[in-house]
Amino acid sequence: YPLKKPEEVDWSFDGPFGTWDLAQLQRGFQVYREVCSACHSMNFVAFRNLEALGYSEDQISSLAGEYTVQDGPDDTGEMFERPAVGSDYLPAPYPNPQAAAASNNGAVPPDLSLIAKARAVERGFPTFVFDIFTQYAEAGPDYIHALLTGYGEEPPAGVQVMDGTYYNPYFISSAALAMPQPIYEDQVTYSDGAPQTVEQYSRDVTAFLMWAAEPHMTERKATGFVTMIFLIVFAVLLFLVKRRVWASTP
Ligand code: HEM
Repeated sequence: YPLKKPEEVDWSFDGPFGTWDLAQLQRGFQVYREVCSACHSMNFVAFRNLEALGYSEDQISSLAGEYTVQDGPDDTGEMFERPAVGSDYLPAPYPNPQAAAASNNGAVPPDLSLIAKARAVERGFPTFVFDIFTQYAEAGPDYIHALLTGYGEEPPAGVQVMDGTYYNPYFISSAALAMPQPIYEDQVTYSDGAPQTVEQYSRDVTAFLMWAAEPHMTERKATGFVTMIFLIVFAVLLFLVKRRVWASTP
């Protein structure tokens, strides 16, 4: 299959001074919640983590309260159901991979907690060894954005798409995947007036997935920047001290 290269998107979290756009992350969570969570779990994200998106504790409690989770065993050894609380993890749509595969033509929708980092690297030896030099940091989000906006094309002449799969020239392994186009125009109603287009939904949900995969990215970049400045100043100082100490005396 002829695979296409994802287009590079301008993300707010790009580069050494990148920051999260909290309004975008909230919209992205809304898209995940209303669309993607029908098939994809996010097992590593707890409701309380969403405080980082700018939600208050009360908002999180009431959001969590809309979900039911299994708990137990209780004193009698029985499992029971209760409303979720902040410390619970986002509930998964399927109880196990077998049930997920049964509902998706045999393919298991991957957990999305770390997908933005997972798709930033090439798989297999020896490519991953060189990734650190050749891959750019936003390859993961660029790929997810390309995948979500990459549906709708006719396969090129001579390309057969298997039953139960959908043509998408950005899909890493074969240009046809078991996920049908997940989002359409106007599918999610935004309250902040952002455009309700596939392009905007894709950017928002991808930014949210990047946050989920690396929530401390912006702190890491800020710390890295200060560290580099420190190291440069320190290197100059060391050089000057070395010259002073080793200066030849007459
Ligand atoms: C795979 C994202 C909605 C079913 C994937 C992949 C991503 C993704 C990033 C991995 C592709 C890869 O391996 O490189 C999303 C997002 C969604 C969404 C952001 C919401 C906007 C859905 C929905 C369904 C679904 C609603 C079910 C109808 C699947 C399946 C796969 C998959 C079955 C595995 C495909 C395969 O390996 O052939 N999705 N997805 N997804 N998704 Fe989704």
